[in-house]
Amino acid sequence: MRRREQAQFAAGLMHERISRTGFPSMVKAVRSFTSCFRCMHIGSPGPSRYLGWLNCGDEKTLSGNCLDAPAFHRNHASIADVLRRLLGDKNGNVIEIGSGTGQHLVTFAAALPRLIWWPSDPNPIHRDSIDAWQAKRALANVRSSVDIDAAASDWALGRDGRPPADDIDAILCINVLHITSWLVSLGLLRAAKRYIKRDGVLVVYGPFARDGVHIAASNMTFDAHLRQQNDLWGVRDTADLDVAAREHGLRLVENIDMPANNSILLFQHAELFP
Ligand SMILES: C[S@@+](CC[C@H](N)C(=O)[O-])C[C@H]1O[C@@H](n2cnc3c(N)ncnc32)[C@H](O)[C@@H]1O
Repeated sequence: MRRREQAQFAAGLMHERISRTGFPSMVKAVRSFTSCFRCMHIGSPGPSRYLGWLNCGDEKTLSGNCLDAPAFHRNHASIADVLRRLLGDKNGNVIEIGSGTGQHLVTFAAALPRLIWWPSDPNPIHRDSIDAWQAKRALANVRSSVDIDAAASDWALGRDGRPPADDIDAILCINVLHITSWLVSLGLLRAAKRYIKRDGVLVVYGPFARDGVHIAASNMTFDAHLRQQNDLWGVRDTADLDVAAREHGLRLVENIDMPANNSILLFQHAELFP
């Protein structure tokens, strides 16, 4: 059923892309489509759905529906260290956007058991993987995955088994902003302003440029590769994110160096920094 849902949506996306931009984009669309069918972004029609079309790389299926992402094994320990510092004394809720396989979420939920963890992803195959990891780990503080499109104007929190609209200590987003359109970055900032508590944080992990400069040659190469696959993707710049954050009533308050030329960006409510 979900395969059929994906196939139908893929056809719609390709039609939309071709009719908007012509043959060169059709070639790109076909290339992206064939490169990773499983990770293609699907969901209700609309520009943000189409713009979120993506390739997640080299996930492998383990037992059942559990997917394994190689990058998880390289980055989870260093991200967990930062989360312990930021969230170690909290006991509210954390929403993860674009949870992918779900491996990060169950790992962080085990490390920080006083918090309630809410995974989300628009891709139903990823939601199956998230729920399969949770079934394996049986953590009392992890909720079922939900379909949240970060770019949506309303995340509809507090309804239909979705995370609560209040008591949100953190929104976490790992390796999503460079493989989605800028609308996803804007939607994430908008929702963070709306939903996180007064002292809450938006935590974003990934490769970022700083003030127009890539922090490593490999990030520049990666950026070019992303843009060649899809001209709406690309390594985001902290300066652009800071401007957008301010427009949404947030501030970029910390930029933490992480291994392999990645960063964690922390955003908080602007009123905490008069
Ligand atoms: C590169 S994967 C990262 C997955 C996971 N966070 C990790 O680091 O392993 C990007 C994820 O973003 C999700 N995604 C794509 N478009 C999105 C959107 N508009 N809103 C929320 N998530 C989105 C994809 O389905 C995918 O699971």
